[in-house]
Formats: sequence, structure tokens, C-alpha cells
Amino acid sequence: MKKFRRLISVICFICLSIAMSGCDATSPETVVEKPIVLGYSQLGDESTWRSQNSLSLINAANEAGIKIMFEDAMQNPENQIKAIRSFIAYKVDVIAFSPLVETGWDTVLGEAKAAGIPVIIVDRMIDTEDESLYTCALCSDFDLEGRQAGEFLKKKFRLDDGPVRIVELAGTEYSTPAIGRYEGFRSVISSDPKFEVIFSASGDFMRSKGRELMQQILTHYEPNEIDVLYSHNDDMTFGAIEVMLEAGIRPGKDIVIISVDATQKIIDYLKDGSVNCVIECNPNSGPQVMEITRRIVAGETVEKNIYIDEKVFDEYSDFDSIADRGY
Ligand code: AHR
Repeated sequence: MKKFRRLISVICFICLSIAMSGCDATSPETVVEKPIVLGYSQLGDESTWRSQNSLSLINAANEAGIKIMFEDAMQNPENQIKAIRSFIAYKVDVIAFSPLVETGWDTVLGEAKAAGIPVIIVDRMIDTEDESLYTCALCSDFDLEGRQAGEFLKKKFRLDDGPVRIVELAGTEYSTPAIGRYEGFRSVISSDPKFEVIFSASGDFMRSKGRELMQQILTHYEPNEIDVLYSHNDDMTFGAIEVMLEAGIRPGKDIVIISVDATQKIIDYLKDGSVNCVIECNPNSGPQVMEITRRIVAGETVEKNIYIDEKVFDEYSDFDSIADRGY
């Protein structure tokens, strides 16, 4: 009987030790760690850039062993709010999202904060009085992108007395890239009155709308009344170039073109002279987002506002040094 009791105590001790060490009873050496769960609300799939950004996030999550719950909001901020609420209900470890527009997030982010779930803002920024609503923002410097577009024009037209007449295809209204690229650009060109923006409208970052806007522009202006096309993204530029070619306009020669994003196709256009300046907006933020997620879950302090690295490629660049873009 004594022997039997001792055997029972030994078995109980072993079971307790296994439970406390988190080991699987079938393989005492395997430590079973729960994967980090990241809820991600992507704003949509409007552009080549966005598809690459989603791919980068999903691939990086898989590589980092992070379980990602990925929701596409299809260009509707209400869908983003719903997704964030579902992540809160699911009790994810971290929430990340790319906000379609800058405002309207305080309530739902307050709910995430009350639930103790840290939030990372990716790509576009939010406009809030309360910085405690997010842990970290990893965004592009859209104002800088706009200024770089302006600086290129100043260089390109340095020997020209003007007027330099500019048509602008802007991004989604009230979104950070549209605001930054609009304001940053004007902050540079406004110092010289020879630069005139004669048309500006939102094409929502979509190729089809870029096409429509360029058709509209050509009903208002003769081709020789337009000197520059400044487009807030490559997809709208592609749509506009199609229309130019149909109208017998030589893109990059009859009309100087500045485009933002830097997809491989636009770089090919830059190399063949159809586009004059490309401002990079970097979509490959996945690995950085996963690293920030891991550090937040580990209780480390992360920098509050981080800008993604970006470059400018223009007709003065050494084309051989431009690496393949991969998308
Ligand atoms: O927020 C980044 C912008 O959104 C990219 O320039 C554009 O292509 C995308 O749709």
C-alpha cells in the first residue's frame, strides 16, 4: 500500500512539473508557445502598391510565426471600425491598421485602449488629439514626398521662365498621402510664381479614375497648354498615360510626368523617357510591422513615430543602380 501511495505521489509530481513547465506530456522537451495574434485591418486593394503591401504583411507574419487575422475594408472606414471591434472581441495581442482617412478613429481606438490592446498605425496616419490611442506609427513621410516632387520641378525648369502649367491627379480625399503630397508639393513650388497648378482633382489612387481625369483634363485644355502631370500614384499615372498616347501626346516629352510609388513598370517608363521623376513610397513594411509587434508583446519600448525609408528616382539618376523593384 505504501509503495502504491509513493508511486501515485511520483506520478502526480511528474504531471504537475509538466503542467508548470508548459511541456507537452507526449514530448517532455517541446515547449508549446502560443503564437502572437495580430489583427490587421487593411484599407482596401485599390492599387498595385496596396497589393504589394498586403503581400508583404502576410508573408512577413508567416515568416515571423505571427498569426495574422487580415481584413480588407474595401475602401470603407466603417468596415475598418467593424474589423477593429472584432479584433477586440477576439482579444488579439496587437491590432494594426492602415487608416483610409485621417479622422474618425478616436472612439474605436479608445475601446482598444480600454481592452488593453496596443495599436500600431501603418502607412497612413490618423489625426487625433490623444496620442495615447496608439503605441507606434510606422508611416511614409508624405509631406516629404510632395516636397521632393516640387524640388524635381524646380530643377527641371530652372532655365525656363514659365509659366509652368501643372495638372494634378490627387489621392483619396482626407487621406494622409493625398494631404501630404498636395501640401508638401505646394510648399516648394509656391516660392516661384512661374509654377501654376491649373487642375487638381482626386482620382482615388485608381487607374480607372486616373484615366477618366486625364480625359476630362483634355476636354478643358489643349495638350500644349499642359506642361506637367503630377500624379499621386503610379496606377493613376498609368491611366493618364494611356489617354495621352491615344491623344497622340508623348508622355515624358510633351508633358513632363512625376509619379509617386515606384512600381517596376513606372521605373521601366522612367528608363525609356516616358516618365521624368518617380518618388518612392515603400510598401514593404511587413517585416518592420512584425518586429514592432514582437517587441510590443515582449514588453519592450518602441519608438512612437517611425518613417519608412524611401528614395527618389528621376531622369538625372544612374539607372543601372536602380534595383529590380519586385512588384
Ligand atoms: O498610402 C499609400 C498610397 O496608397 C500609395 O501611394 C498608393 O498607391 C496607395 O493606394
